[in-house]
Parts: sequence; structure tokens; C-alpha cells
Amino acid sequence: MLIGLKLLVQYTRDALLHCIESPVSNEPLAEICDERGMLPPKGTTAEQGAAAKMTCTVRPARTSDAEDISRVIVRALRETNSKDYSPEIIARVERSFEPGAIRTLIDSRTMFIAEIEGRIVGTASLDKAVARTVFVAPDVQRLGVGKSLMAAVMVAARARGIDVLSVPSSVTAEKFYARLGFQAVRDAFHGDERTIIMECALAV
Ligand SMILES: CC(C)(COP(=O)(O)OP(=O)(O)OC[C@H]1O[C@@H](n2cnc3c(N)ncnc32)[C@H](O)[C@@H]1OP(=O)(O)O)[C@@H](O)C(=O)NCCC(=O)NCCS
Repeated sequence: MLIGLKLLVQYTRDALLHCIESPVSNEPLAEICDERGMLPPKGTTAEQGAAAKMTCTVRPARTSDAEDISRVIVRALRETNSKDYSPEIIARVERSFEPGAIRTLIDSRTMFIAEIEGRIVGTASLDKAVARTVFVAPDVQRLGVGKSLMAAVMVAARARGIDVLSVPSSVTAEKFYARLGFQAVRDAFHGDERTIIMECALAV
């Protein structure tokens, strides 16, 4: 248990250092995978395997990215979150991520996107001390894209002196955030939509 915690702290540090040294990650995903011992899992599709060999770049979102970001979010909602949430909830959340709404978010938050070969495949944002809108396209999930996006969010948070980063995690993403060092604090409900408020100390 103690060893596990130490490894998590070490990992979080590594992720932060990686981003501080290289805010715009240019490392091939395969290298990140090798370095952190996270080779694509069994059952990885040919498409995912090919994506893993390509370069993933994380950069700030631009207004002109809004349509692509919206598309990624809608796909992730329909193909990934739909396993944990009802069609009504998915449809409601989708509406809040239409391109116009994304443009507003880009202007009001610190928003990042991840690109593989010029294609936007993921997004994450920092809203004060809260990580929000963390989504990765279903065909490139479990390859380290979400982790790279969250590393950028964590670096941005630390640069602002934020000691504790929180996230209203979907039920779907709870294990992902736990893997990055977040701990569940409490449940929160938006109508019948359950999220899990999770927190991660950044002042390591
Ligand atoms: C959650 C999400 C962003 C994760 O992105 P991802 O690119 O697949 O995650 P990564 O590949 O970077 O995974 C990082 C670590 O978390 C683990 N992980 C990711 N998803 C996991 C899951 N569903 N269950 C268990 N572990 C998971 C990975 O195995 C990896 O662990 P490792 O470092 O030991 O190998 C993505 O699955 C997604 O878009 N989900 C739907 C949208 C959503 O719920 N977003 C959260 C909104 S709050």
C-alpha cells in the first residue's frame, strides 16, 4: 500500500516535471508508454496500435478548434459514457458541448487539446481549481492521451499556486483519475447525473 502510494506520488511528480520541461508534449505515445510501463493493453485494436506509434501533442485550444473539440466530446459521450449514463443524460450533456458553447469555454477557461497527426483527439481544461471537460476520442483511449492532457492541466494549476486540484469525475472516469493520484471525496448529483468529486494534492 505504502509502496503504491509512493509510486503514485512519484508518477505525479514525473508527469508534472515532464510537462514543465516540455509544456507542449512532443513525445511519441509509444515512448511515453514504454517509459511509464504502460504498453497498450491486450485487445488494443490495430487502429489504436497505429495511433500509439504517432506523436501526441498537447497545446492550448484555439477558437477555431471548437467544432473538432465538440465532435470528440460527443463521440466520447455516446461511445464511452453511455455505458454508465442513460440516453437522456447523454443527450442533455451533449447539448452543453455544442461548438458555440465550446467557444465560450475556450474564452473563459484554460483549455487544452491533444492532437495526433493534426487530428484533435482529446481535450481537458482548468476552471479555477477544477479540472473539467476531460474527453478522449474512443479509438485512442487507453494510450496515455488523457494522462498527457491532465499533466498539462496540473502544470497550469501549479503555476497558479493551486495546491489542491479537484475534478467532478464521471462514473466512467473514476478509475482513470484514481490512477493519476486523485481521491474520491463525495458524490454530487446534477438531477439524476451522478459525479464523484475527487481531489489531488499538487504541492508535492
Ligand atoms: C477518462 C478518459 C479521459 C481517459 O483517457 P485515456 O486517454 O483513455 O486515459 P489514459 O490512457 O491516459 O490512462 C491513464 C491511466 O488511467 C488508466 N485508465 C484509463 N481509463 C481507465 C478505466 N476506464 N479503468 C481503469 N483504468 C483506466 C490507464 O490504464 C492508465 O493507467 P496506467 O498509467 O497504469 O497505464 C477517457 O476514457 C474518456 O474520454 N472517457 C469518457 C469521458 C469521461 O468520462 N471523461 C471524464 C469527464 S470528468
